[in-house]
Amino acid sequence: MIYGVNLYNFNVNIESFLSKRARIIDRELKKFINNIDFGQPKLIEAMLYSINAGGKRIRPVLATAAYEIFKPDFRRILPAACSLEMIHTYSLIHDDLPAMDDDNFRRGIPTNHKVYGEGLAVLAGDALLTNAFNVLAMNSKVKGIKPGNVLKAVEILSAKAGAGGMAGGQAADLEAEGYPLEKRFSSAGKLLNYIHLHKTADLIQAGVQIGAVLADAPEKDCRILSNAGRMMGLAFQIVDDVLDVTADKKKLGKSGSDARNKKLTYVSMYGIEKSLKKAEELLDRTRKELSLLKRPASKVKVIEEIAGYICRRDR
Ligand code: IPE
Ligand code: IPE
Ligand code: MG
Ligand code: MG
Ligand code: MG
Repeated sequence: MIYGVNLYNFNVNIESFLSKRARIIDRELKKFINNIDFGQPKLIEAMLYSINAGGKRIRPVLATAAYEIFKPDFRRILPAACSLEMIHTYSLIHDDLPAMDDDNFRRGIPTNHKVYGEGLAVLAGDALLTNAFNVLAMNSKVKGIKPGNVLKAVEILSAKAGAGGMAGGQAADLEAEGYPLEKRFSSAGKLLNYIHLHKTADLIQAGVQIGAVLADAPEKDCRILSNAGRMMGLAFQIVDDVLDVTADKKKLGKSGSDARNKKLTYVSMYGIEKSLKKAEELLDRTRKELSLLKRPASKVKVIEEIAGYICRRDR
């Protein structure tokens, strides 16, 4: 047994795999942020507040699982994995601000701006984003990792987090607030997919892509994993939309604000049942795509199980 996953048969206990690996990532994250040179204490505290609140760590775990399809010792890419989580956490802090979704709870505790004020919350997000690239760059000093591949990871992460990626998706999400119901069945489907693919799928896709690239995987395999990442990323946001309505809010760790903000979501567009069906469909397609990988089935299975978890999760 390696980190809760028996790599020699198909009995992957994915939840215990996820939580064990999340704990390893948590430790590294804390270390990286505490070691920031000249870090302003209050700002570091605000950054650690949201980082230490937990979270599923899906993006970094996916990066390590994708890496392991090709190479052992996922610890070699912990800096890159942490950089994904730092960017994700920044996106959550900003997403919760009054100027965006105006939420009071996140990861089971008051949102960053509720504790530190809006100014420091903005800066905690800024710093997590910027320091993420510093942490990612550190991966080029790890034995066995080609610096050229770290550069490729920088290219992927910056594109997937920027104006054509997560930030772009978030901008479209804001613009679509209050989208008139009567227009929902013309071009709205396209707009909705644009929002979800960019605000959420992009960083999930970046996770698997970066894992594969740092493992020096062949181009063809990187492409397969990238396609799978995009599909499971879309499923991730569809399920997030459903959970916003159906989940036990305590377990979810956030209060659910899509209806109040008149968001264009899978639920507002198609209803819960059809949304869940769409997520299942995407899971099927993800599995088919992953089956194209001519790699050890037990390792590919871990990614498949994470995709399954994404669809049946309750938080
Ligand atoms: C929440 O992401 C925001 C979305 C992109 C849907 P997660 O559901 O991964 O949140 P944490 O990291 O587990 O808190
Ligand atoms: C946000 O989507 C995605 C991000 C890029 C943070 P949501 O606004 O639906 O995320 P939650 O539900 O607040 O976590
Ligand atoms: Mg939002
Ligand atoms: Mg939100
Ligand atoms: Mg949501």
